[in-house]
Amino acid sequence: MENNQGKSESFDGTYDEKPEMFGHPYKELQHYFKNCPITGDLLDLGSGQGRDSLFFASIGYNVTAVDSSRVGIQQMLYKAESSGFKIDGIVDDIQNLKLEKKFNVILFDMLLHGFEDSTQLELLGKYSNSLKNKGIICIVYPDDFKADHFMNMLKSLASNWNLLDEIIINDIPKIEGEIIEYKFKMMVAQLS
Ligand SMILES: C[S@@+](CC[C@H](N)C(=O)[O-])C[C@H]1O[C@@H](n2cnc3c(N)ncnc32)[C@H](O)[C@@H]1O
Repeated sequence: MENNQGKSESFDGTYDEKPEMFGHPYKELQHYFKNCPITGDLLDLGSGQGRDSLFFASIGYNVTAVDSSRVGIQQMLYKAESSGFKIDGIVDDIQNLKLEKKFNVILFDMLLHGFEDSTQLELLGKYSNSLKNKGIICIVYPDDFKADHFMNMLKSLASNWNLLDEIIINDIPKIEGEIIEYKFKMMVAQLS
């Protein structure tokens, strides 16, 4: 586990108390990526306790998982080792992270919409530069957002972004102690 941060983060305590806080990876996301022609290196930003990273490793992606929660990354690495998967885990703030390699797929699952618009744009610009040719970005967000919100940002960065899919996610695992009254959506965009 690489550690570029060295300070504790608010999700640590919650993850300690709830080792499977977000449940399983959404069935719609699993179905999409089991049938996705873009394979190879995947970057999971704000990977939490690693439910998505572990799924992607199980279907053959080379996964790099980044989260500011050291506990989340440790829990993910423990599960990966128990399952025989090799995942690179990095404890860092995605706003400061410096990457040397490029990726075929970059995932933001329930993270990007939580930032101010100006930071969302900054993050999309930063991580667009970490995509390989024909690489894709997958963003999962509550359904009061629309794919257009993120597409407009991507297109303001480069005109050769195309929306491949926007999918409604009905399979939202129950989060202990929380009532979720909305659906999620996922969008996939490709840089051509
Ligand atoms: C709602 S959780 C989603 C976790 C995971 N993507 C999932 O869907 O299971 C958001 C995660 O993003 C992480 N996070 C929030 N801001 C971050 C930042 N600036 N840098 C790195 N991780 C961050 C939190 O620690 C938390 O684990």
